[in-house]
Amino acid sequence: MDTATTSSSTAAPQPVDEIRTRRMVLRPIRKDDAHDFFSLRSRPEVMYYTLSEPDTELRQTETWLAERLAQPDYWSFAIELLPSTDQGPIRASVPSHGSQDSINSDPAVVAAVAAAAAPSPPRSPTTKRPVIGILGIPRQNQIGYLLQPAFWGHGLATEALRAFMPRFFAHVAGSYEHAVAFTLPGNGASRKVLEKVGFRLVKEEGSGRDGNVEFHLERKDWEEKESPVMVMGDA
Ligand SMILES: CC(C)(COP(=O)(O)OP(=O)(O)OC[C@H]1O[C@@H](n2cnc3c(N)ncnc32)[C@H](O)[C@@H]1OP(=O)(O)O)[C@@H](O)C(=O)NCCC(=O)NCCS
Repeated sequence: MDTATTSSSTAAPQPVDEIRTRRMVLRPIRKDDAHDFFSLRSRPEVMYYTLSEPDTELRQTETWLAERLAQPDYWSFAIELLPSTDQGPIRASVPSHGSQDSINSDPAVVAAVAAAAAPSPPRSPTTKRPVIGILGIPRQNQIGYLLQPAFWGHGLATEALRAFMPRFFAHVAGSYEHAVAFTLPGNGASRKVLEKVGFRLVKEEGSGRDGNVEFHLERKDWEEKESPVMVMGDA
């Protein structure tokens, strides 16, 4: 499925600490993210669009995470929500198409919703921010992202992806000339996110879960469209 255009140069990936947006911090995934990611990857309404089955046991998520951590070239970031005082309020909500019972009974989501909705107490530097999603490059130049349903519809995926793209093009400098994202024809939210960030539709075939929609963002289009974005860790 990967249709990378390569040039002769193969620059080594550059290390990244974290990417800060107005409302979020994207930082490299860690082994201790397993519980938060299980909370995400066990949700049918999230995994439906990934073509993977939901994880039913924590050890499945741990195995997935270990494989990701063993691929240093393929970046994956945990999306952490900044405290509400830093970002303006986010009214975390349960989407109508989600399973309210499963969401409300999930301690990780309950904690994340509470953290987003409640006035923020003074925070120490060690306070753990709620992890609300994942964004990264699962393979080659392909970009993917998942967000907790309680946080859908607030522009967070768009904000995260927009902040990630300068890093993507820096990371693959001299290698890939475009980013690729695949989604399903019926995934209106993801399609909209990609369009808002500047991806163009290049292929659409089939329907339902058998369908495939391919979006590209060309490096030159990105460079023409976007002025440089300052992100933490930039030299
Ligand atoms: C895709 C996903 C990350 C979007 O997250 P999000 O934070 O809600 O996205 P945003 O709020 O930034 O943008 C969503 C946009 O889609 C729109 N939208 C939502 N549902 C839609 C639908 N069914 N049809 C068309 N547009 C839709 C929203 O109105 C919004 O557009 P707007 O800002 O112009 O109003 C989230 O829905 C998710 O995790 N889905 C499950 C996993 C997934 O599909 N991952 C992508 C695989 S390619």
